[in-house]
Amino acid sequence: MSELSVNHLLGIKYLNKKDIELIFETADHFKEVINRPIKKVPSLRDITIANLFFENSTRTKLSFELAEKRLSADVINFSASQSSVTKGETLIDTVNNILSMKVDMVVMRHPNPGASVFLSQHVDASIINAGDGAHEHPTQALLDSYSIRERLGEVKGKNVVIVGDILHSRVALSNIYALKLQGANVMVCGPKTLLPKYIDKLGVKVETNLRKALNWCDVANMLRVQNERMDISYFPSTREYTQQFGVNKALLDSLDKEITIMHPGPINRGVEITSDVADSKQAIILDQVQNGVAVRMAVIYLLASKIKQ
Ligand code: NCD
Repeated sequence: MSELSVNHLLGIKYLNKKDIELIFETADHFKEVINRPIKKVPSLRDITIANLFFENSTRTKLSFELAEKRLSADVINFSASQSSVTKGETLIDTVNNILSMKVDMVVMRHPNPGASVFLSQHVDASIINAGDGAHEHPTQALLDSYSIRERLGEVKGKNVVIVGDILHSRVALSNIYALKLQGANVMVCGPKTLLPKYIDKLGVKVETNLRKALNWCDVANMLRVQNERMDISYFPSTREYTQQFGVNKALLDSLDKEITIMHPGPINRGVEITSDVADSKQAIILDQVQNGVAVRMAVIYLLASKIKQ
């Protein structure tokens, strides 16, 4: 039987092409399951999963929780604002306390880059990174590629532009790794101030003119400006950002071809995309959310089967 090459999902950086193919084939099966009248399988009845969220989240937290419940795992939830972390407890102590209750797998979102790698080296459980600061968000990149594959047939050979705040985005870095691994052509587009200095080393095209980028691509993944991670101003005003890097219907209609629009959410309507774009047939934003459950079921199932061995 095929299995993943890793025991944790810490980042796309640690996966190979075969891992991604296996996750997608498994997700195809679970996608069929979640469209049945009884949307559940008994696969993980003997597994307990802790969702540890040290940073705010809506869709990622709900999506993981639903994926775990659809697999019949036992689930416990933790969010930092209501916990002893605010009393000064360390990450390792918090997690070890939870693990002593016999938890097999931890899904963690944390503001510090590298937090899940650190955890995987210190605790005895399978770790899934649900976003570590501005570093990686592997399940988001997997569900993004899965949604491209669903809409366009395959990811290989497709031109994908990631637009916006590349500097502060964990979605951007994980997407770059995932798309390149699958043979897509990747471009980033945004204000120079929001492109990381090391961007050339990632083997992607760089464009600061949005119209040129959109005319080149098959898919545009529009990112939110991560204001919460900014301590200085990276552009003069939101209005100017939107004028240069926002997508509206008139701009899309003036392009040479019809492109697919993606967004990881949460959307700032009217900033990175207008409502008429977000709600149009060209946008696959809600497909991304729906696919997120199937892809996370696949990741959890495949990692759990390695624990059971
Ligand atoms: C992203 C995140 O949290 O990194 N959202 C998500 O997981 N769906 C992107 C964002 O916050 O802009």
